[in-house]
Amino acid sequence: MTRMRFIEKIFLKYLGLRRIEGTLCFDREVFDLFLSAPYDIAPNFQGSPPSTAKDVRCRDHPRFGRFVYAFAKYYKPHCIVEVGTHLGGTAVGWAKAIVENGRGKLICIDNDSYSEGTYPAIARRNLIETGIADEHLELHNGDSKAIVPHIAEVFRGKVETYLVDGDHTYEGALTDIEKGLPMMRPGGFILVHDVDKNRKMDETSQDHPHPVSEAFFRVIDGSKYEWCILKFIRKHLGVMRVT
Ligand SMILES: C[S@@+](CC[C@H](N)C(=O)[O-])C[C@H]1O[C@@H](n2cnc3c(N)ncnc32)[C@H](O)[C@@H]1O
Repeated sequence: MTRMRFIEKIFLKYLGLRRIEGTLCFDREVFDLFLSAPYDIAPNFQGSPPSTAKDVRCRDHPRFGRFVYAFAKYYKPHCIVEVGTHLGGTAVGWAKAIVENGRGKLICIDNDSYSEGTYPAIARRNLIETGIADEHLELHNGDSKAIVPHIAEVFRGKVETYLVDGDHTYEGALTDIEKGLPMMRPGGFILVHDVDKNRKMDETSQDHPHPVSEAFFRVIDGSKYEWCILKFIRKHLGVMRVT
């Protein structure tokens, strides 16, 4: 174990895991799997070409990828949908768990707007590196506003895990969450990245100073869903359990 990983593990175990807001609880085993996961679950991960402005942003939170890996290892979902795949920083976590679980389908959606010309080609390459077979994978290239409603119709009530990390405007994030609700199986989880209220985002507007967080709570406020925010994940990960 590297020195960095050791320090991170201590931080997470004794400090980080206490940084959870909300009442939704996971089994201890989810965190144990998270803490014991390899530091880099995709060592051969290919980033975007150096000329692309937003080169590193989506590779900058391996902890996030490790958490979704642990999450899927524990819950063993049959069907995972992800909006905002980019090069696959989080999708490799889902994919690796699917391979190790021996079951599951991963449906990715991105409109290739972040670093043009990289999705789906580089994302597919990174995902295949995990060993996931083609028949367990669907990569959709286009606007989530059009694709999510279609997926929600095809997979109505069948999706156990849905990660929202695409359009970070208030309207965009809210649409992605709401349009995905019909596909959720009761008891399934919606994970929403970037619900951190302390970070200024490019998508911040006068009406919506914390766009993704506001979208997350807008859905929760009109529901009986349990929720939590994992603040030890960089830029914070909100999780709601759909009933
Ligand atoms: C923050 S990145 C996702 C990071 C990724 N989850 C990871 O961990 O590497 C956001 C992604 O959402 C995509 N995106 C933004 N708006 C979108 C939309 N309306 N439909 C589909 N994808 C969108 C962008 O192209 C970008 O790749």
